[in-house]
Amino acid sequence: MQHKVKKAVFPVAGQGTRFLPATKAVPKEIMTLVDRPLIQYAIDEARAAGIEEFIFVTSRGKGALEDYFDHAPELEASLAAKGKTALLKVLRETYMDSGAIAYVRQHQALGLGHAVWCARHLIGNEPFAVLLPDDVIAADKPCLQQMVEAYAESGGNMVAAMEVPADRVSSYGVLDVPAGICPVLPVRGMVEKPAPGTEPSNLAVIGRYILSPQVLTHLDSQQTGAGGEIQLTDAIAQEIARAGNVRGFRFEGQRYDCGSKAGFLQATLAFGLARDELREELEEFLFDMVAMRQAAQ
Ligand code: UTP
Repeated sequence: MQHKVKKAVFPVAGQGTRFLPATKAVPKEIMTLVDRPLIQYAIDEARAAGIEEFIFVTSRGKGALEDYFDHAPELEASLAAKGKTALLKVLRETYMDSGAIAYVRQHQALGLGHAVWCARHLIGNEPFAVLLPDDVIAADKPCLQQMVEAYAESGGNMVAAMEVPADRVSSYGVLDVPAGICPVLPVRGMVEKPAPGTEPSNLAVIGRYILSPQVLTHLDSQQTGAGGEIQLTDAIAQEIARAGNVRGFRFEGQRYDCGSKAGFLQATLAFGLARDELREELEEFLFDMVAMRQAAQ
């Protein structure tokens, strides 16, 4: 089995209920951090990792997502006529090579595992990455690139992991791993949303995976797990039991949970403050806000 990862799956068929009413009309993945939609961050990360084929698992009402990657000839012509070359460059950076993107439908939001399984025919018999666009990771070296480099040595399956506070751990898939500080850890087991107090560690899985096609075969049974959903975690846990070849990867970087309102707002601030043209104004505003709140207390 080759260790080079060329395909990535982007499951974007969830209902995004935490962002209602916005997600009634706007796919969550199109919501913007500063001026770029969440999906663009995920695509850029995948490109940096050498991904060549991009597979989107979509659903009804996600048309804006398909349009987003299309060419925009009228807009291009108008920007060119006005000499707005910097904006033209920004626009063209969103274009994808013809044939590089494929879309499959998940007809019902039955869970992340089911969404990935819907892409099985496009994935074929090779390792593939999965990126959840609502996990946005700020890092010097993009997270998936870190993983692809480690995976080239190890093969098997790899899941991105990070330490989370004890009171949050039961909202995640959690790894059973030996204690240690190594970035790559052998995984003995994995449990989705463990009941408080039963978690095997505080190392939680976040939305970056490199998986072997064997994981897809565990999803064939369509068995539901936590929350009544078909869970990717359960399929990976079965692969651990079968072959014991799953590794946790402690990435370097700051992860923002943009699937939650608080995480999305934090990411907006962090990415805003990282922009030279916005930093000063934003900092001033934040200092004033904090000072006003303190004065009011
Ligand atoms: P979430 O658990 O965040 O669900 O999915 P969600 O529907 O997007 O959002 P909420 O909880 O209702 O607010 C994590 C990722 O898995 C995808 C989502 O699109 C998101 O990228 N997903 C989830 C699917 O593609 N299909 C599903 O059936 C479930």
